[in-house]
Amino acid sequence: MEVRAFQWKGDSLFLLDQRVLPEKELWQQLKDYRDVAKAIKDMAVRGAPAIGCVAAYGFVLGVMKGEDPELVYRTLWETRPTAYNLFWALNRMRKALEEGKDLEEEAKAIEEEDYRANKRMGEIGQQLIPKGARVLTHCNTGALATAGWGTALGVIRSAHYLGKDVFVWVDETRPYLQGSRLTAWELLKEGIPHSIITDSTAGFLMRRGLVDCIVVGADRITKDYYVANKIGTYTLSVLAKVHSVPFYVAAPKSTFDENSIGEESIKIEERSEMELKFIKHVPIAPDGSPALHLAFDITPPENITAIITEEGIIKL
Ligand code: MRU
Repeated sequence: MEVRAFQWKGDSLFLLDQRVLPEKELWQQLKDYRDVAKAIKDMAVRGAPAIGCVAAYGFVLGVMKGEDPELVYRTLWETRPTAYNLFWALNRMRKALEEGKDLEEEAKAIEEEDYRANKRMGEIGQQLIPKGARVLTHCNTGALATAGWGTALGVIRSAHYLGKDVFVWVDETRPYLQGSRLTAWELLKEGIPHSIITDSTAGFLMRRGLVDCIVVGADRITKDYYVANKIGTYTLSVLAKVHSVPFYVAAPKSTFDENSIGEESIKIEERSEMELKFIKHVPIAPDGSPALHLAFDITPPENITAIITEEGIIKL
């Protein structure tokens, strides 16, 4: 069965807790919008499109229970600052409320549209993947990060199901390990050949000619095509440029912030140093050393070969 990150059941939202994957497949039932906000903040659910969908259902839960819509909107809004889909989805839900639309139907439409956009990006994007390609990806951009199928991983998935014999290099993606824990889990479930690498292995593989292209997702794309994505994406783009490896970004239109221009316009989330200095509560760094944990970086358009969307390919 296809992997799903969340499921709406009419009066509650079920979330597959991504913090405990791959050891446990644990579903949480959420009935309160505050718990939805906490799940987004604590990254039980993550990935820009999935965050947007889940926030939309959180809005439904809050308004359904008679909570103040503005408070519900604000609480969900303040969870993660970089993923644009969060703000896009919340604004759409607030507008639906103002227009007297059925909120549950609107949230379902957001979910369905995201799933369709991913499938379409897969069809379009796979055309860029040569037969037998060794594709490198970063973070998790699969079914777990979206309403299903995935953005960058969706492109890889589509190429695989078309019999293109792809092989995937999976960046482990320090410190939250979305690559080794989540992307590898998805690929293994579907029998897509892959190997996990440390983030710092990527450059050497490119030098050895073992990477044919790179496909990553995005958390926010400005009007002039600066791309915010998981920390380490910018480094990969520089390495790709030096080694003449095509560098693709796959993202739905709901990730494009038409009101922001230039990299300074993007707020970069800074997360707790604890996520960097501990693995499963075991310290891996001296207690006294401070640590900087930026969750995202920004890749400039000059380092990007093309952006794949559900509406077509933007060549840069
Ligand atoms: O911190 P995360 O795990 O939410 O970051 C996710 C990413 O950076 C993804 O690449 C991005 O959201 C695109 S997901 C389709």
